[in-house]
Amino acid sequence: MNRPLTPNDMSSFWMPFTPNRDFAADPRLVVAADGMHYTSSDGRQIIDGAAGLWCVNAGHNSPRIVEAVKKQVSTLDYAPHFNFGTPQAYELSARLAALFPAGLEHVFFTNSGSESVDTALKIALHYHRMRGDAARTRLIGRERGYHGVGFGGISVGGMVKNRMHFGTMLAGVDHIRHTHDPERNAFSRGCPEHGAEFADDLIRLAELHDPSTIAAVIVEPMAGSTGVLLPPKGYLQRLREICDRYGILLIFDEVITAYGRLGKASAAEKFGVTPDIITTAKGLTNGTIPMGAVMVSEKIYDSAMENADAPIELFHGYTYSAHPIATAAALATLETYREDQLFERADALAPVWEDLVHGLKGLPHVKDLRNLGLVAAIELESREGAVGARATEAMKAAWAKGLMVRVTGDTIALSPPLIVTEAQIAEIFDILSGILRDLA
Ligand SMILES: Cc1ncc(COP(=O)(O)O)c(C=O)c1O
Repeated sequence: MNRPLTPNDMSSFWMPFTPNRDFAADPRLVVAADGMHYTSSDGRQIIDGAAGLWCVNAGHNSPRIVEAVKKQVSTLDYAPHFNFGTPQAYELSARLAALFPAGLEHVFFTNSGSESVDTALKIALHYHRMRGDAARTRLIGRERGYHGVGFGGISVGGMVKNRMHFGTMLAGVDHIRHTHDPERNAFSRGCPEHGAEFADDLIRLAELHDPSTIAAVIVEPMAGSTGVLLPPKGYLQRLREICDRYGILLIFDEVITAYGRLGKASAAEKFGVTPDIITTAKGLTNGTIPMGAVMVSEKIYDSAMENADAPIELFHGYTYSAHPIATAAALATLETYREDQLFERADALAPVWEDLVHGLKGLPHVKDLRNLGLVAAIELESREGAVGARATEAMKAAWAKGLMVRVTGDTIALSPPLIVTEAQIAEIFDILSGILRDLA
């Protein structure tokens, strides 16, 4: 029997990655958004220091995207892409192929970053098997990596809390070491100098397991969710070389870094390193409608077509792969990025951003500052026995002062929409420096 409904009862919604009980006691509710700002339920303007969750790169309520979604929903609300097609899906695929580095010519559509990761891992396994190299089943991730919350993603992921409660996960997974080295690299501006040799940890695993058993290695070119860990100079190039030496596929998880966050269409482009597969989501549709896209190399796609053992070449897909409304949102988003030159804008603003990030050096509790493109991490000293408490308090104080930021552990992560102005960047750091001065 239905219980009577209690308006505003907060217990039914089990909130994701949130301390539910704490939140219910002091909720932060958003009711509208436009451009760089949210409107809170108590009518305040809150500047978005996180582009939602690293996704609203063109800012909120972006007119071209909103119009495209409205038009699409009343023209073709849904069509399946199993055995049928829509013209927009082909158009979007071609545009994405042109946007990402040459050689990544094929696109598989998903609905989220987690699904993009699972798709990439499955395509990697499938590739080796179809080539008759079926012993290559081992997947390698990296400590402190975040690859979403599917069983594939948490298996290759390396954030302990995301793994420890969920059983044994995928078999045959191993991890290379993370790249964080604060002793040598704290307060680096941009990518740190030291640590390219951490890539050699893949050699250790290749020698341990034998390279002939390893299908793929997956890394975030810039690890975002674990607290913004940047690749040491030369690290990604070295990883590519080792993968080539051993016949291991290289997957870049670019769910955060693609679509302008680092001032280029992709981290692959920024660092001049082309992996075999790139996973994306988030900024693909500006966060308006869920969608992910996995960019796949010519060699992998061609192999699937040539070596298929059944008319269907890949037994994988989602009801909503290439959903027409998401596709319309993505096409309008890419057009907005291009027309408004938002990747170039992020690139041009990065030095201003970097100066203000590092201007926080010397404030109380600031243990490290990291930046790249329009991303920053402010790592704070943890309180004794209460990891995360200090940054969470900073996040709540920021909300009270009209700024939304993201925290992970005791790191405050910043990633504003790419439409942010210099004045708004100054405002963000002004609010934060005030908070850091007052924080216990
Ligand atoms: C690198 C990376 N991979 C995967 C994901 C998961 O994406 P989603 O939350 O859309 O499943 C994220 C989300 O932050 C991410 O940063």
